[in-house]
Amino acid sequence: MTTAQAKKVFIETYGCQMNVYDTELIKSILISNQFGLTNSETEADIVMLNTCSVRDNANRKIQNRVHEIKHAKKDTLIGVLGCMATNFKTDLLENKSFPIDFIAGPDSYKTLPSLINSLLTTGNQQYDVTLSEFETYSDIQPTRQDGVNAWIAIMRGCNNFCTFCVVPYTRGRERSRNPQNIVEEVKQLVKDGYKQVTLLGQNVNSYRYEQYDFTDLMKMVSDVEGIERIRYTSPHPKDYPIKLLEVMKERHNICNQIHMPLQAGNDRVLHKMNRTYGKQEFLDLVSQIKTIIPNIAISTDIIVGFPTETETEFLDTYDVMENVQFDSAFIFKYSERPNTRAAQKFPDDVSEDDKKSRVIRLNDLQNTMSLKKNQALIGTTQAVLIEALATKKSSNEVQGRTDCNRIVILPKQNQELGQTLPCLITDATRNVLKGSV
Ligand code: 5AD
Ligand code: SF4
Repeated sequence: MTTAQAKKVFIETYGCQMNVYDTELIKSILISNQFGLTNSETEADIVMLNTCSVRDNANRKIQNRVHEIKHAKKDTLIGVLGCMATNFKTDLLENKSFPIDFIAGPDSYKTLPSLINSLLTTGNQQYDVTLSEFETYSDIQPTRQDGVNAWIAIMRGCNNFCTFCVVPYTRGRERSRNPQNIVEEVKQLVKDGYKQVTLLGQNVNSYRYEQYDFTDLMKMVSDVEGIERIRYTSPHPKDYPIKLLEVMKERHNICNQIHMPLQAGNDRVLHKMNRTYGKQEFLDLVSQIKTIIPNIAISTDIIVGFPTETETEFLDTYDVMENVQFDSAFIFKYSERPNTRAAQKFPDDVSEDDKKSRVIRLNDLQNTMSLKKNQALIGTTQAVLIEALATKKSSNEVQGRTDCNRIVILPKQNQELGQTLPCLITDATRNVLKGSV
């Protein structure tokens, strides 16, 4: 048998920014155990799929990928990691012919080297999907590549149990990282030339470590000399800390942007979702936010077609969106997730046609609002952090971002990555701004 250390690993990442961050942690764990990394699937001896199961029929997608990879190269070893690990453990145990070789859940990444070694020495499938109440990977420095933007998980897991959401089951209980340790990581990022850091958590306002809460942590991160932009995602509206707004207002390096999931605008639906706030409370919170920071950008997530949602109840969501005038919104059709309370208690009874029609109407509304908001910026000057020296469409353009998280495309001159430049906004679509330096 060959040793694991001679093996090259390719990692494919699905889902949210937390998963992208986890992939960076996994890379560090592999590198420090003498594995090689490759960006080429065909060159790899081991392919790891870092999965997400928050929405859609992700299981089938991953099963197809597994077959595709094995079909292309029979001797490639395949590991399923992340949120779908638990589901796949059952598949693996019940269906011995399913060609996955190892499985590691979100709290088991440190065991990957030994799982792979056991696999190589015994030839038997291996898994570890134990969820931990303590693992925060605080001792691991992620292997980052971006150079300008860095993400840092400040907490893991979730205790909220929104009835539609699988995260509390796949990622386990909430636990927060030591703030000193987070600050040290930010200091190192500054030394490495990073300009912007986004603090990640399933529910950042639940952050708590000894006497430190999320607002304390934000102050500590904001005090790190040289960090130019700080963002965070996502807060829960039920206990959004108002004192944080004062800190955001005072500190120039905390961006004027909040991503705050609404999910639905109707009280009965919100109650059934176990969101623990109502329509008016959400509207009151937004108006408080806008009073303290008038030029703030607010984006959101919405689910349409939650079990039993009627047309009239859906119109409450429409109404909140119109009222708040979000800067952007991610609109999802409800999809039933295994183990969740909704899956156990509420039949998925809104028709696919109704879900589709509701998504279309909310997207139309959002598109109109986004365009209007972007057009209002034409003629203004915005501080743009340069994030890429080419765009998907052209190598004669560079791409950056405003403090309020809007993408700006500029003609290529002699800009440098990580520079912040004042830009005149000259044109706007609903998704991007165009500008000149
Ligand atoms: N169906 C549809 N959307 C969901 N989300 C979470 N669970 C589900 C589900 N079962 C959405 C929520 C959340 C975002 C990350 O994904 O809007 O904020
Ligand atoms: Fe899921 Fe709700 Fe936790 Fe967000 S707060 S991760 S939606 S359970």
